[in-house]
Amino acid sequence: MRYKHTQHSGLLPDYRIDPYKLIEADLKDVYEDIRKELVSNTQNEELRTIATYYFGGQGKALRPMVAILVAKAINYHKDKSSVLLAPQRQVAMISEMIHSASLVHDDVIDQSDFRRGKPSINALWNQKKVTMAGDYILAVASMMIARLHNDDVTLTLSQVVTDLVQGEFMQLGSKETENERFAHYLTKTYRKTASLIANSAKSVAMLGGADENLAEVAFQYGRNIGLAFQLVDDLLDFVSSSDTMGKPTAADLRLGLATAPVLFACKHYPELNPMILRRFQEPDDVDRAFQLVHKSQGLEQTKFLAQKHCIEAVRFAQSLTESPYQQSLLVVSDLVINRIK
Ligand code: FPP
Ligand code: MG
Repeated sequence: MRYKHTQHSGLLPDYRIDPYKLIEADLKDVYEDIRKELVSNTQNEELRTIATYYFGGQGKALRPMVAILVAKAINYHKDKSSVLLAPQRQVAMISEMIHSASLVHDDVIDQSDFRRGKPSINALWNQKKVTMAGDYILAVASMMIARLHNDDVTLTLSQVVTDLVQGEFMQLGSKETENERFAHYLTKTYRKTASLIANSAKSVAMLGGADENLAEVAFQYGRNIGLAFQLVDDLLDFVSSSDTMGKPTAADLRLGLATAPVLFACKHYPELNPMILRRFQEPDDVDRAFQLVHKSQGLEQTKFLAQKHCIEAVRFAQSLTESPYQQSLLVVSDLVINRIK
């Protein structure tokens, strides 16, 4: 099969539609509209500058893209309508805002230097101001949620924020035994990454009038895409270059984190166990673990697990009426598994 590089990431089989193109009109001003919301809710110029820093349009816009596509696939499934409803578009924006607010806090916690090909936010401003700017983004997103006047959507999106915080907390701790460790990693991955995509998909479905079963299809599509996306992210941390990713690679080991490639690798190389427990702190731990992962089947096994989740996502998308949007949901799963950055 021939592949072409897409504008945003990864490789796309060239006989299919580019989802970003399909929803170009709906997605085009999402970042601009987020910036307007953030600017209009404060008079403080510095807060405006810091809060809008990650909304310059350099991101992949995965979350708004998936939210918009799911919304349109659901609307078509229900009413043969191709129109994105205004509240559904708001959820696409809110989803990217919750994501970016969490990245702003994450960059302070991780003391990161680089994100999206530019200096990370904490490298430019002091961390007290950056932390508050993250809170401000979240607060503006909360006002936007309130304006939707839909209690189920409010609960669903609030759940995301509690998941993000708990996911981040889980990452600070580790488990003793191998089995516990993998379950811990998967729950953490759901909370840190998949919950936002899943619950945003569920929210747009509910706003489109979906019943419980249909909202669950949207949720499960998002959950599986989210898990696959993070598994591939954890894989790319071992195989991609910093230039391609726009952020440092092999960063997880340096942060003391054992992600799927290491957890798989330690089945063949038990010497990884003590390194995991001491969070790769001794000199040479990071280099040795990196090499052992590359010698093991850990990278292939991680990709295989990501593929399983993509197949599940596709299964849920296929239960919707065929439409260009529904077809694009299948393409998104290709993008997620084949992405290179
Ligand atoms: C990126 O992780 C971080 C997240 C996906 C979530 C972080 C969540 C919090 C800091 C909790 C607070 C949440 C809110 C909404 C304010 P990473 O370090 O693995 O990825 P990276 O390499 O892109 O930095
Ligand atoms: Mg980080």
